[in-house]
Amino acid sequence: MNSFNRLIVKILPLMPKSFVHLFAGRYIAGEHLDDALAEAGRLNEGRMTVTIDILGENISGLDEAALYRDAFLGVLDRIRDKGIDGNISLKLTQLGLKIDPRACVDNLTEIVDKARSQGNFVRIDMEDSTCTDDTIEICLAMHARYERVGTVIQSYLKRSQADVRMLAARGVSLRICKGIYNESPAIAFKGRDEIRNNFMGLLEILFDTGAFAAIATHDPVLVERSKSLIAARGLDSSRYEFQMLLGVAETLRQGVVDGGHGMRVYIPFGEAWYAYSLRRLQENPSLAAHILKNLVIQG
Ligand code: FDA
Repeated sequence: MNSFNRLIVKILPLMPKSFVHLFAGRYIAGEHLDDALAEAGRLNEGRMTVTIDILGENISGLDEAALYRDAFLGVLDRIRDKGIDGNISLKLTQLGLKIDPRACVDNLTEIVDKARSQGNFVRIDMEDSTCTDDTIEICLAMHARYERVGTVIQSYLKRSQADVRMLAARGVSLRICKGIYNESPAIAFKGRDEIRNNFMGLLEILFDTGAFAAIATHDPVLVERSKSLIAARGLDSSRYEFQMLLGVAETLRQGVVDGGHGMRVYIPFGEAWYAYSLRRLQENPSLAAHILKNLVIQG
């Protein structure tokens, strides 16, 4: 990261919300579920499925966890009522993992039972490494209750091959991504190629075992390598799908869709858009710099 981008990362939290909103519009469906459903409908028309995420992770109490639980129950109902081809992605810390793991499991169980009654799917997002063991353990317990529950494995973590082998052997659907949190080099690969190679290695394990693979990346190199692997193995489209975040790499996304591969778009919405957008901007400071320069030039 160059020094200008480092400066951007530092000053972003001091900037007005309106600046962050300029950037956020593209990556967030809006503040309300109706916004997310409208986006989902448009994407469905464009031959893409969706997964809906309610923004928010650092909750302060179990009453807040219950609100998120109820909100996700509502999302499932509205997906069904509107005939949306989509499912949900949630974070265990939203449901109280760091406050009371038992309450978190109870909240998740209600959501999973609702999904089961509707034949829908629940994806448990993966958070930082302090959550990995709990997330895997809870996912396995939920998967035993209802098989259409899956989680996410990050290719930057050195432990991931072992985790994928264990989960895939039990038939758990896995989303493979690079990983978004800042982890220590003791447990995480830091080199771009190491992370890419591990990503492909994890996919190969999934393809070997027959577990469903969600290939979550906007990296054109990984998209190409995945497509080649799929073609080389003659994999049926029921075995995998690509996934991308709303508003990111839309040209690449369209190419994948036109190539006849499944594509699921991750749609975040909610009042917590500011924290989410700030994180996106801090990960991608050149984009913030670009907006800033445009503002300065136009202003
Ligand atoms: P890379 O970082 O190389 O990005 C390739 C290009 O895509 C960049 O050059 C940039 O232009 C663009 N880009 C990528 N991410 C962007 C962003 N956020 N905003 C704007 N532009 C962006 N992580 C995690 O730890 N736990 C999880 O549960 C999930 N879940 C998840 C779901 C889905 C559907 C996706 C696509 C990603 C995740 N991630 C995640 C995030 C993932 O771990 C990773 O941080 C990002 O996808 C960025 O890595 P890429 O593989 O896209 O490559």
